[in-house]
Amino acid sequence: MDTVKFGIIGCGLMGREFASAAARWKHLPDMDVRPEIVSICDVNMNAQMKSWYTELLPSVKQAVTDYKELLANKEVQAVYCAVPHNLHEEFYTAVINAGKHLMGEKPFGVDKKANDSITAAIKNHPECVVRCSSEFPFAPAMQRLCSMIEQDKFGTILEVDAGFVHSSDLDTSKPINWKRIAKFNGEYGVMGDLGMHPCHVPFKAGWKPKNVRAILSKVVPKRPDGKGGMADCDTWDNATLFCETPDPKTGMCFPMTIKTQRIAPGEKNTWYITILGMKASVRFNTKNINHIEIMEYVPGGDQAWQHIDMGHETAFKSVTGGIFEFGFSDAILQMWAAFLYEIKHGRPEKHFTGCVTPEEAALSHRLFTAALESQKTGKTVTV
Ligand SMILES: NC(=O)c1ccc[n+]([C@@H]2O[C@H](COP(=O)([O-])OP(=O)(O)OC[C@H]3O[C@@H](n4cnc5c(N)ncnc54)[C@H](O)[C@@H]3O)[C@@H](O)[C@H]2O)c1
Repeated sequence: MDTVKFGIIGCGLMGREFASAAARWKHLPDMDVRPEIVSICDVNMNAQMKSWYTELLPSVKQAVTDYKELLANKEVQAVYCAVPHNLHEEFYTAVINAGKHLMGEKPFGVDKKANDSITAAIKNHPECVVRCSSEFPFAPAMQRLCSMIEQDKFGTILEVDAGFVHSSDLDTSKPINWKRIAKFNGEYGVMGDLGMHPCHVPFKAGWKPKNVRAILSKVVPKRPDGKGGMADCDTWDNATLFCETPDPKTGMCFPMTIKTQRIAPGEKNTWYITILGMKASVRFNTKNINHIEIMEYVPGGDQAWQHIDMGHETAFKSVTGGIFEFGFSDAILQMWAAFLYEIKHGRPEKHFTGCVTPEEAALSHRLFTAALESQKTGKTVTV
């Protein structure tokens, strides 16, 4: 079993998810490589944060507040960077220039300029495996959908509708956080926060938007600042992108809708995709994560949707029984298995079990930048 020694920069919500996944690596009996977290960094490192990590992972030997100290640690071979978006450019380029593998969080740069500079650093360091975090396609039902794309089951694509929608901001008394402030989250607003997720599978399928007409909305202008006052909430709350998208297999264009919303009543954490085609159609929604609806059609036959329950048929074999349900932390574990596999083997296990590539992240930046322009001008903008 090979070991890759990791550092985590940003020990908040997502830093803890990786730590927890690394701690249950034995869950993946066939893996020939494992992560060992040796160093952690957070500007707000305190005794409680440090002990959460060190009690879970005795391998952690260094806990620092300055990321440069972590990067100077020669033991660290790879880094997971989960910090606010305004820090992506500086931190990601520093990780890559230090010659370490990087799993970066989305949106992979606060804006296109930041993303371009990360891309330039990657070009100078081909020895580094650099990927962008996005876990939902590792759900077994999604892997089944992805294998239908690979097997060309859909025929001519009629329409693709993908989205990631949240409801918590419907509560106007919810205090503000950095994700609702443009200085930290960026001008993309909700697109930067949620957009990579619905783009992941369409982009990996090769469905690259040619142009976009975007409608963005800012609904709640101020939120409680948590200190008794109110603060400006200056990011886009909701975004709907209508994209004309060529199918490289047929050359024909189809409509693709990418929706990201923070104010979607009743939708706690809903990631969904619908693909409609002449030969087959599918619907998937994380509300019912173990379920997939498939309609395969033969001309003249019935148009009947099948409702299929999936079990634990994961891309990377798990000790969980085959009939048991799959959840968010399982998707995170699978994504990390995919990243470690790519570090060890120099390629993904299969096309759709690869993590989001820097090229796919860069395409999302071109799309979101064009979407901002479309909102400003009211016109359809080339991507
Ligand atoms: N893949 C997913 O499903 C998913 C989900 C949520 C967030 N994210 C992404 O993860 C990243 C982090 O989001 P989060 O929800 O974990 O945020 P968070 O606020 O919970 O954690 C961010 C951490 O970064 C630390 N930090 C801030 N400035 C720092 C600095 N200068 N040096 C070191 N540490 C610093 C903060 O103290 C905090 O602990 C973002 O890019 C976000 O878009 C991804």
